[in-house]
Amino acid sequence: MRTAFVVLSVACCAALFAGCGTPAQSTAGQPSSAPVATATPTPTPTATPAPTPTPEPTPTPGPQIETIDGVTYVNGILIANKTYSLPSTYAPGVDPTAQAAFDEMAADAAAQGLNLYISSAFRSYEYQDGLYNRYVAQDGQELADTYSARPGHSEHQTGLAFDLNTIDDSFANTAEGQWVAEHAHEYGFIVRYPADKVAITGYQYEPWHIRYLGDEAAAVYESGLCLEEYLGITSEYAE
Ligand code: DAL
Ligand code: ZN
Repeated sequence: MRTAFVVLSVACCAALFAGCGTPAQSTAGQPSSAPVATATPTPTPTATPAPTPTPEPTPTPGPQIETIDGVTYVNGILIANKTYSLPSTYAPGVDPTAQAAFDEMAADAAAQGLNLYISSAFRSYEYQDGLYNRYVAQDGQELADTYSARPGHSEHQTGLAFDLNTIDDSFANTAEGQWVAEHAHEYGFIVRYPADKVAITGYQYEPWHIRYLGDEAAAVYESGLCLEEYLGITSEYAE
C-alpha cells in the first residue's frame, strides 16, 4: 500500500512538470545562455541636407550720389559735368586748398625751369553764361557744346579747376604741358578731359584744364580712366 502511494506521487509530479515547462526547457536544443535576439534598430532618419544656396554675385557698388544744397557729390567728389549741374547761386571762388596745391606744383615746375601759370580759374555762373553764349553765336550750339560748358555745368564754377598757360592744343607739346601730364596727380590734380575720353567726358581734349581732387587724383591717374569712368557716372545733357 505504501509503495503504491509513492509511485502515484512521482507520476503526479511528472505530469505537473510536463505542463509547466520554463521557456528554456521549451526551446529545444538551445542553451539557456543563448543571447536574446537583438532588436533591429530603427534606422535614424538621415536629415535631408538643406540645399546649398547659390551664392549671389557680389554686386559692384554703384556710385554713391548725394546732392547737398543742389551740389552733387559722387563718392564724396564734387561733380560738375553735362549730367550734373550746379545752382546758379553757387559761387565759392577759388578753393584755397587747390590754389595752395597749384602754388606748390608751380614752384616745383619752376625749379625745373618750367613756367606754369593760371589763365582761368573760378568762373561764376553769369560769366560762364556770357562765355558759352558767345561761343554758340560764333560756332553754333552743337560745336560749342564740344568745348564749352553750358552755364551751371562748368567745372570752373566749382573753384577746383584751372586752365594753365596757353589755352590751346599746342600746350600738350610744350615742356610745361608734358610735365603737367606726368606730374599733376602728385599735387592732387588730374587732366580732366583726356584725348582718348572725348566720348565719355563730352568734351574735346583739353591738356590745359586740370581739376583738383586731392589724394584721389593719384588713383584716378593710375587707373587710366577719366573721372566719369572712375566714378561710374555719365556726362550728357538731358536735352
Ligand atoms: N572748357 C570747359 C569744358 C568748360 O567750359 O568748363
Ligand atoms: Zn577749363
